[in-house]
Amino acid sequence: MTDSTSTYDALLAALHSVLGDAGLVLTGEAMSPYCVDWRGEFGAPALAVARPKTVDQVSAVVRVCAERNIAIVPQGGNTSLAGGAVPIAGRAQIVLSLSRMKAIRAIDPVGMTMTAEAGVVLETVQEAAREHELLFPISFAAQGSSQIGGIISTNAGGINVLRYGMTRQRVLGLEAVLADGSIVEGLRHLHKDNAGYDWKQLLIGAEGTLGIVTAASLRLAPRPKHKITAFLAVPDPESALALLRHATAQLGDAIAAFELISPSALALVKQHFGLKPPMEMQSWAVLIEAAASLSGLRDAMEAALTMALEAGDASDGVIAETEAQAAALWALREHVTEAELKSGRSVKHDVSVPINRIPDFIRDATSALHNAFDGLQLVVFGHVGDGNVHFNVLGAAVEAKAAINRVVHDVVAGHQGSISAEHGIGSYRVSELAHYKQPSQLTLMRTLKRALDPSNIFNPGKVLNDGRSFSEK
Ligand code: MLT
Ligand code: ZN
Repeated sequence: MTDSTSTYDALLAALHSVLGDAGLVLTGEAMSPYCVDWRGEFGAPALAVARPKTVDQVSAVVRVCAERNIAIVPQGGNTSLAGGAVPIAGRAQIVLSLSRMKAIRAIDPVGMTMTAEAGVVLETVQEAAREHELLFPISFAAQGSSQIGGIISTNAGGINVLRYGMTRQRVLGLEAVLADGSIVEGLRHLHKDNAGYDWKQLLIGAEGTLGIVTAASLRLAPRPKHKITAFLAVPDPESALALLRHATAQLGDAIAAFELISPSALALVKQHFGLKPPMEMQSWAVLIEAAASLSGLRDAMEAALTMALEAGDASDGVIAETEAQAAALWALREHVTEAELKSGRSVKHDVSVPINRIPDFIRDATSALHNAFDGLQLVVFGHVGDGNVHFNVLGAAVEAKAAINRVVHDVVAGHQGSISAEHGIGSYRVSELAHYKQPSQLTLMRTLKRALDPSNIFNPGKVLNDGRSFSEK
């Protein structure tokens, strides 16, 4: 028996001994779905997949790995678009799947809070809130698979950020496991708590590099009784911003979503899913949703549409009359990512710029790319109401990916934007973060990483480049 075989066997034996049931440790072929992301773009082999059911088991797995200097890649629903939740080559590592920690531990309908374990699927959280006439407002296309731990670890955004904020704004407390295996218990339900450092904020959005989130207390919202959804054809992104002003004037803070979709994105959704807008159109589109508990939404939405049509900021528009019609409008938006995937490999950008700069950003990035490369197809869409644009590029040669990123991100930087609005850095954007983040901020981030994870066992090679060599698949 070689040394490495006996080390490997010892690791497996230790994992089995802390997890008990053999089904909680996977090896061989059974690990495949955990070692590659859902788009098949990122991934590397792991030594094992551990699937603990309790926070004590997570702690025990971390101790087993820490003693052996084995890295841990925490994983939830594996829906990352940035390669954040799968292994990367270059380090002995296991995947720690939180998907068996799926209890909703408590719901408080009066205080409007819920305590959920990391593996609870987002849609399950939304449904549990709905049973109490409450709302958990984080919402995006992958909500049927993504899990609370991953959503918190990536500070996920989605379609309702302009009204309800990012995930960070919905977290009141955390339970987490640190790199030495210790458990930090902070599942409070307080809206006001200035007693010492707000350490949970460090773990939210850290992509599993500083600690493993095992449970969270979540802040719910009242569930609006009325909802209205409209779909408009707009001549260009400038008109979309003018429409945002009309909508804000009429609907105020009832606006819950304001999404922009380019003609090319709509064409892909039609090509791959046969889904078509409710009117004949070749132009950009805006999907608006407003929600409130008091009535009057319909009049306000109609007034906003009239203002936009009269000003020439929209050429046509429909208001959904039924839930089914609203769902059909949302399907046009929610199928963009999958339609893009069916069209081949895309170079994804998840950027944010100040809202009033979105049209300039789209124009500048489009011309910069067309000047630098031939044969690209741009698929532009996103959460314009909060400044987040997905500026994705089809038809690029694999070797042009880094250069394309640089062209787009230079334009983002010129508009004082961010190279990741909501998807995170993962392994995909590590070099871009190193390039664009201010050196003083990178130094502070490294200091935090070294303090909380001195041996670099938590999700190494994600977010920060620690000087070792890790490569994309
Ligand atoms: C979305 O908003 O649909 C996703 O975050 C974007 C993407 O797939 O690039
Ligand atoms: Zn998005």
